[in-house]
Amino acid sequence: MNESAGALLDLSGKVAVVTGAATGIGEGIARTLAEVGVDVIVADIDTVGAHRVAGDVGGTALDLDVRDAAQCASVLGDIGERIDILVNNAGSYHEAGSILDQSVESWSRSIELNLASLFHCSKPVAARMVDQGDGGAIVNIASVDGLLPCLGTGYDSAKAGAIHFSRSLAVDLAPHGIRVNAVSPGVVPVPTLDRMHAGEIEHFWPTEPSTSGLMGPLMKQRSANVPIGRKGTPRDIANAVLFLVSDLSSYVTGQNIAVDGGWTLV
Ligand SMILES: NC(=O)c1ccc[n+]([C@@H]2O[C@H](COP(=O)([O-])OP(=O)(O)OC[C@H]3O[C@@H](n4cnc5c(N)ncnc54)[C@H](O)[C@@H]3O)[C@@H](O)[C@H]2O)c1
Repeated sequence: MNESAGALLDLSGKVAVVTGAATGIGEGIARTLAEVGVDVIVADIDTVGAHRVAGDVGGTALDLDVRDAAQCASVLGDIGERIDILVNNAGSYHEAGSILDQSVESWSRSIELNLASLFHCSKPVAARMVDQGDGGAIVNIASVDGLLPCLGTGYDSAKAGAIHFSRSLAVDLAPHGIRVNAVSPGVVPVPTLDRMHAGEIEHFWPTEPSTSGLMGPLMKQRSANVPIGRKGTPRDIANAVLFLVSDLSSYVTGQNIAVDGGWTLV
């Protein structure tokens, strides 16, 4: 391959579905991909937010609940355009929690949203990429919690699963030229977290995390000691995604990039 780095980063004409792109990290990914010419489909359950971001980036808003396998199959299977890139970003730490506090229903919801959703969206998109016949790229947004447990068994197991899901799917789809990788963000302040901490959005984290060694203190300690000395931004995560969906990473598959400022090193 003799193309320049600049040429490899020009993704004009490519079509990407980014789930959970109405705000936060997903919004950052949508905006970054649009900057390099990608036609972005902003898929989210938040219709208003999806239209806002899609309008800003000249893309398309798509109503999608990634927990609903049948809906994902029909909606993603029926998109008129081709799909070159899928970023499975939708996920949530709302139901993180100690096993002492968390109900089995909450645990199942966490697995459904953060792990099963990857299968729901990847299956119809992979089938389309195979039919299209010219490869593709899938990136799953996991978390440092999938590497170092921090937020309870539901979220942490789902994110560890997301990393191994990426490895397994990479082997599965490699013969079709479809690359699959994961990105694991560290601490990234987003509006949703601000609203959770302000009590505007319900979450299941104990306010006083005395019941758990996982919640609160450990997270605070690690987050206050990020070796690079600052928290991450959606742009930090999006730049790693850009690398993984472009041909700059044409020989990279089944990998997980921790974009965490060194959070997992200490
Ligand atoms: N922010 C962080 O510090 C951080 C750290 C590690 C990993 N992550 C992961 O990054 C991803 C994005 O996190 P964020 O902080 O930007 O979250 P966020 O809550 O700000 O945004 C999540 C988006 O997903 C959408 N969404 C939620 N449920 C959905 C569903 N069922 N179907 C479709 N869309 C749905 C929401 O409407 C929202 O637009 C998540 O997978 C999260 O687990 C975030």
